[in-house]
Amino acid sequence: MNETLNIIFTRRSIRAYTDKQIDDATIETLLKAGMYAPSAKNNQPWHFIVVRSKDTMNKIMKVHPYSRMLRTANVVIVVCAGQTSEIQKMFFPQDLGACTENILLAATSLGIGSVWLGVYPSSDRVKELADICDIPNDVVPFGLISLGYPAEERPDPNRYDASRVHTEKW
Ligand SMILES: Cc1cc2nc3c(=O)[nH]c(=O)nc-3n(C[C@H](O)[C@H](O)[C@H](O)COP(=O)(O)O)c2cc1C
Repeated sequence: MNETLNIIFTRRSIRAYTDKQIDDATIETLLKAGMYAPSAKNNQPWHFIVVRSKDTMNKIMKVHPYSRMLRTANVVIVVCAGQTSEIQKMFFPQDLGACTENILLAATSLGIGSVWLGVYPSSDRVKELADICDIPNDVVPFGLISLGYPAEERPDPNRYDASRVHTEKW
């Protein structure tokens, strides 16, 4: 199997991490992968907040109900969307979804464990994240990516399901 498909098929949510630090150059590579995602009319609505502070992670854990993995996370990326045009307002969930998945796959390819934490469209989580990270009113915190070198292994989930595939018409 080629390397790209291998990464797609072996990426899993990793929620336990070692103490090993992810260096700044590696974080930049992950962000670059995010910025190479497709976006509607190439509007590239993304902004990123790179969080290394355990204090901030503790605050996030208090407001996000499914974020316990941040106890051992090394870095959290807050993936945000600008809202400065109609195209951004309309398509940012798709654009940011593609961006987030690029980062997860890039992390897997570099041996880094990751998990996507949903924020948008929960209005409570959007507000809490905006408060914690001083995000301006015209920017939406879309999601979080928890990162660290893996302290767990997860098997291939074997998800191919032929019953979901329809040919020509439903
Ligand atoms: C939109 C979205 C929101 C998610 N939110 C959370 C979350 O808040 N906490 C968490 O632990 N995992 C979260 N996940 C990860 C999913 O639970 C995970 O992707 C799913 O169980 C499949 O497992 P896998 O990633 O190992 O293939 C989220 C995934 C997506 C796509």
